[in-house]
Amino acid sequence: MAQTIAVLDFGSQYTQVIARRIRECQVYSKIYHYATPAETLRAEGVIGIILSGGPSSVFSPQAPIPDRGIFELGVPVLGVCYGIQLMGHLLDGRVSKSTHREYGHGTLRVKTPGRLFAGLPKKLRVWNSHGDRLIKLPPGFKAIGTTENSEYAAIEDRRRNFYGIQFHPEVFHTERGVEVYKNFLFGVCGAKYSWTMRSFIDHTVADIRRTVGKQHVLLGLSGGVDSSVAAALIHKAIGKQLTCVFVDNGLLRQGERAYVESLYGRHFHIDLRVVDASALFLRRLKGVTEPETKRKIIGRTFVEVFEKSLKSIGHADFLAQGTLYPDVIESVAIGNNPAALIKTHHNVGGLPARMKLKLLEPLRELFKDEVRLVGEKLGLPREVVWRQPFPGPGLGVRVMGAIEPDRLEILRQADAILQEEMMTSGWYWKVWQSFCVFLPVKSVGVVGDERNYAWVIGLRIVESRDAMTADWTRLPYELLQKISSRITNEVRGVSRVVLDISSKPPATIEWE
Ligand code: XMP
Repeated sequence: MAQTIAVLDFGSQYTQVIARRIRECQVYSKIYHYATPAETLRAEGVIGIILSGGPSSVFSPQAPIPDRGIFELGVPVLGVCYGIQLMGHLLDGRVSKSTHREYGHGTLRVKTPGRLFAGLPKKLRVWNSHGDRLIKLPPGFKAIGTTENSEYAAIEDRRRNFYGIQFHPEVFHTERGVEVYKNFLFGVCGAKYSWTMRSFIDHTVADIRRTVGKQHVLLGLSGGVDSSVAAALIHKAIGKQLTCVFVDNGLLRQGERAYVESLYGRHFHIDLRVVDASALFLRRLKGVTEPETKRKIIGRTFVEVFEKSLKSIGHADFLAQGTLYPDVIESVAIGNNPAALIKTHHNVGGLPARMKLKLLEPLRELFKDEVRLVGEKLGLPREVVWRQPFPGPGLGVRVMGAIEPDRLEILRQADAILQEEMMTSGWYWKVWQSFCVFLPVKSVGVVGDERNYAWVIGLRIVESRDAMTADWTRLPYELLQKISSRITNEVRGVSRVVLDISSKPPATIEWE
């Protein structure tokens, strides 16, 4: 088993960031619920524990409190923000209640570098976000760093290997924060560089072979990053025992189906079955305008088609899914921790249970950026590994109002032009998403020398780190101009192109 650093989650919006930073240092880290019994952590061979921050006060009756046994495991503990207050509170120091939060930049003065600040400057810019603070050290501890507002901004008990810091090293605003974590991992916990995507691929391939044996695996390939990487990984492990099903729902982008057929079928030699169900989908969607109803119809029809396809494929024992780590973390919902609100619309609900299949989810340990690295290592092209997210219901939620074949075709052509221009200018890789929407509004425009009473296309181009918030991208005017004139000139039936300049929140990224 890989050496594991446990991050106990007390509801901070940064918990996942801590886990990622540690993995970026090539050490495996896993997020645990704050109340996980110490015995479980011992049994899992945890070599170090980090207590995350969190919005609570240790004085609140609902304060999340860990199993005190974690301090008796003989394993190093690092408390961050709320974590240091917990250490003060549980190890007989004193915490003072504060009525306002200290939020923003501060300066940490290192008194003695010790292990935590080894090799770092005496003064560091740090990021604070905390309410209460420590005012009396717990026995055995000494202060190793101070800030303007706190004598005990960094503390250590070298004998027991307990450390506490008031600031957040995981956010980019903290200068050399990653090195603080590295000092904890390598200097204090004795971790080894063992978490690389190469080692992940090796052990996962072995795991898949062991789990699957001689049985068969079915995977619904969407062409998106997660299912593509899952397919390549499983195929590497079990080759022909994997069958991928790609459903053409009639709501795909231009060239999508041909691309999937050529990449997975011809290039990777994966047993790929393409099911053309476009007529069925479009029949069921006829006249439907309400977005939620469209999504439901598309979801239900997909499950039905997928189940039916199994009959022609023959027997399967496992259903593989590209579930990722953020989908399986049981995030602690305290305050307005956005991690606890992550959308779950990526999973096809209830499918494995109804089909009586066992689940195979080889990516459930990985964050998205790690999935991309695995994809690269497995030889998937950049266009797949770094492609933008695309909604499951496809163009169905990008044609406003009723979905009709001619409207889909107009949208496809316009979107292909947008993608081409985004790729050639290099902007495709810099933004979160860029796509067209079809607006069921007619207006008069002039195309060539002629008045043209035709449809309107909307452009949606946004930047985001995680899809929770997004802002519209300020593309160069020349590029916008080129996209717009190409669409009105080359796509019959379009007289006008408009640009969406709403941010999320409150707007969603998709139009629907
Ligand atoms: P919204 O517009 O809902 O979208 O704020 C946030 C992100 O999720 C993508 N999205 C989907 N992805 N199935 C998916 O796999 C869906 O049904 C779906 N709907 C939206 C959207 O493209 C954006 O990245």
